[in-house]
Amino acid sequence: MSGAMTGQPGPATLETPRLLLRPFTLDDAEPFLRMNSEPEIIRYTYQEALSSLEAAIDLMHRSPLKDYATWGYGRLAVVLKESGEVIGFCGLKYLPEIGETEVGYRLMPEHWQQGLATEAAARAVEHGKKDLGLQRIVALVDPGNAASARVAEKIGLRLEGQVPFPGIKTPLDLYAWEEGGDAAAAV
Ligand SMILES: CC(C)(COP(=O)(O)OP(=O)(O)OC[C@H]1O[C@@H](n2cnc3c(N)ncnc32)[C@H](O)[C@@H]1OP(=O)(O)O)[C@@H](O)C(=O)NCCC(=O)NCCS
Repeated sequence: MSGAMTGQPGPATLETPRLLLRPFTLDDAEPFLRMNSEPEIIRYTYQEALSSLEAAIDLMHRSPLKDYATWGYGRLAVVLKESGEVIGFCGLKYLPEIGETEVGYRLMPEHWQQGLATEAAARAVEHGKKDLGLQRIVALVDPGNAASARVAEKIGLRLEGQVPFPGIKTPLDLYAWEEGGDAAAAV
C-alpha cells in the first residue's frame, strides 16, 4: 500500500465506509474490460467499446498505470469491501489537454443508485485537497448524463459552464471546486 494510508509517495489506497479505492493492477483486467465495454456504462464517455482482455490490458498500461507513474495519481479501482469485488473506478486524473485535474467515477450498473459513486468521489476529492494539495478539481460531464451531474453537485462541485474537449464534438459541462471559491464550504 502507498499514499494516504502510509504517507509514501505514489497512488494512494483510500477507504470509505463501504469501499476501498486502490490502484489498478493487471489482475483487474476482467472488470476493467467490462467497465470499458458495456454500452450502458460507456454511453456518455465518448469512447469505443473495448472488445478483448488484451485491449483492456493495453488501455490499463496507457491510462491508469501510466498516470500513476507520470503524475503519482490516477483512476483507482473501486472495491466493495463486503465482497472484495471490483465494481468500477473512481479517482483523480490529470488531463493535460485542459490543464486540470478531474474526478471521475464509473460503476457497474447493478451497484448504481446506492450512493456508492458519491461516497467514492467525495473521498477522492478529499484526498486531492488534503493529501495532494490541489487547489482546483473539476468534473467533465456530458450534458445528458444527469446521474453524473448529480454526483458532481453532491460532492461540492459547481457548474461553471461548458467547455470544448479535444476529440469530442459537443461541449461538456464543467463542474469545479476551487480553493477559496463559493463551494469550498460545501465539501
Ligand atoms: C454516474 C454514476 C457513477 C453514478 O453512480 P451511482 O452510484 O448511482 O451514484 P449515486 O447513487 O452516488 O448518486 C446518483 C444520483 O444521481 C441521481 N440520478 C440517477 N439517475 C438519474 C437520472 N436519470 N436523472 C436524474 N438524476 C439521476 C440519483 O437519484 C442520485 O441523486 P440523489 O442522491 O440526489 O437521489 C453511474 O451512473 C455510472 O457509472 N454511470 C456510467 C458511467 C458514467 O457515465 N460516469 C460518469 C462519466 S462523467
